[in-house]
Amino acid sequence: MITVIGSINMDLVVQTNDFPIQGETTFGDLFTTVPGGKGANQAVAAARLGGQVNMVANVGNDVFGEELILNLAENHVNADHVKKSTNTASGIANILLSDGDNRIIVVPGANYELSPTQIDQVKTIIQKSTLVVLQLEIPIPTIDYILQVCDELNVPVLLNPAPAAGFDKQFMDKIDYLTPNETECEQIFGTNIETALEQHPNQLIITLGSEGARYFDGEKHVVVKGFKTKVVDTTGAGDTFNGALAYAIAEGFGLERAVHFANAAGSLSVEKFGAQGGMPSQSEIEERLIDARFS
Ligand code: RIB
Repeated sequence: MITVIGSINMDLVVQTNDFPIQGETTFGDLFTTVPGGKGANQAVAAARLGGQVNMVANVGNDVFGEELILNLAENHVNADHVKKSTNTASGIANILLSDGDNRIIVVPGANYELSPTQIDQVKTIIQKSTLVVLQLEIPIPTIDYILQVCDELNVPVLLNPAPAAGFDKQFMDKIDYLTPNETECEQIFGTNIETALEQHPNQLIITLGSEGARYFDGEKHVVVKGFKTKVVDTTGAGDTFNGALAYAIAEGFGLERAVHFANAAGSLSVEKFGAQGGMPSQSEIEERLIDARFS
């Protein structure tokens, strides 16, 4: 069982190739609302692959909150521990989508009410988990507290440091897998990537976008190549990678196989619109793995 503790947002997506400058108004091409938030995305990615997943999070007592909880249920994520805040609105992400790439502004709302007290209420769930999955769209003191709890309960943690700004390097002692992209890695460790990897063997897994991902196994650098893909929307690709990696680790895959599997999931996710729109099923990943073997 995987427990994801993190954010849920409603993504407000504007597709445009015409960005306004200060004081200007421009027309966009399309507006859509779709479920998102790095926590929820990673939970849905793992559940779509057949993982048993709990989500611990907060939404607002509003229409978005209702929709976001319903979406988790539809994706077979246990949302019993998603609370409705009475004080704050649901988190949203304002996403500008252009040529398959994005710019995102997150307004955390209820996500920032996730407190250590709420974590105390789910200690039994944490204790029963094979893996706890975290990102950094909830308050950093809560992250610190979750890491302490997981350490005490001896439950492994996968932390995706996105956004990386609040990450404290001392957290590394209580994290089993850290999955930054290259920029986040440099922000966190302030060294070159090779040095950071060599200091954290089999713990630091750096995602490289379409190039795949890499880690250091204690003796050598391992680059696990990405897959050929046709990009429609990269939103949620990192989350799909993390959700699939969590699933594979919880299933007992070795690290190289788990990263290969997660790369395949990430490559499929970008082929459809929306953070969760392209998240693959087990059979879609198997198909991609077979296709890659014969191409
Ligand atoms: O990683 C993509 C996610 O980041 C979006 O779904 C958005 O909600 C932001 O949290």
